[in-house]
Amino acid sequence: MSATAEQQIILVTGGNNGIGFDTVAALTSASPTHHVIIGSRNLSKGTSALSSIRAKHHPGTTSLIQLDVTSDTSIQDAFACIERDFGRLDVLINNAGICPEPKDAAWPGREEMREIFETNVFGPTVVTKVMLPLLSKSKDPRIVNVTSSLGSISTRLDPTDVVSGANYPAYRMSKASLNMLTAFTYTLGQSEQSGHCKGVKVWSFCPGYVVTDLGGDRELKTSTGVDSSETSAKGILEIVQGKRDGDVGRFVEREGRSRVW
Ligand SMILES: NC(=O)c1ccc[n+]([C@@H]2O[C@H](COP(=O)([O-])OP(=O)(O)OC[C@H]3O[C@@H](n4cnc5c(N)ncnc54)[C@H](OP(=O)(O)O)[C@@H]3O)[C@@H](O)[C@H]2O)c1
Repeated sequence: MSATAEQQIILVTGGNNGIGFDTVAALTSASPTHHVIIGSRNLSKGTSALSSIRAKHHPGTTSLIQLDVTSDTSIQDAFACIERDFGRLDVLINNAGICPEPKDAAWPGREEMREIFETNVFGPTVVTKVMLPLLSKSKDPRIVNVTSSLGSISTRLDPTDVVSGANYPAYRMSKASLNMLTAFTYTLGQSEQSGHCKGVKVWSFCPGYVVTDLGGDRELKTSTGVDSSETSAKGILEIVQGKRDGDVGRFVEREGRSRVW
């Protein structure tokens, strides 16, 4: 697979479904200058997603890599494929995430914590670390960490906020940790430290509560007027297009809004 020198090379983890899939669609429909790599842990699901996107005949182009964010081997193999095929990475969208129903509303067990942190925290941390040499070759490197308002510590402590009381403790803690990854990546990018991607732009992006396979019954959500995940994809597209550059290093939401950490 090749891309033209003018194209932005964009990797979306968990790009085969939900917000990730809609993001691939939004990016490829927006411009021929976007080449989007669909990261999918399951190659058969990824192939279906790739076919479905290509059938839309969008101006942007797509390709597929196997990427399980809980597997270091898979992440290293994905790095090697992107290096071989494109030689650089312009945008990394750390979207893959899980939110299983809590076994206990108040206190998660060790295994539950491990499972959620493996995907939502350790995954994007290792993917970012491994992809940094490819991002360093970009003229305008960008990272979007797909977080949640549930990861805001200020929100949890504000009883007037509508999501304050939602009890997904392990998920909430994982997204709070992911937000620290954003802050850490941002500050390292500002420093002169070697081995890091100087000037990398990074955001935590909350996609809103939207209809996907995550967090509750799909049909119930649709029938009660929950937003489509296409609205989330639009927010990510705006970051890629530079429309949120004034909010770099921050916790942002759809429609130009920002959130407290
Ligand atoms: N939906 C919401 O209302 C909402 C709200 C706030 C934040 N978010 C965040 O948005 C992101 C996307 O979620 P979604 O709502 O689109 O959920 P989704 O429909 O369940 O899609 C999740 C995607 O992540 C992939 N994934 C899960 N574990 C993975 C792993 N180990 N390696 C690689 N890919 C993996 C899934 O792959 P498979 O298809 O193989 O399972 C799927 O492609 C998540 O980070 C989530 O926390 C969602």
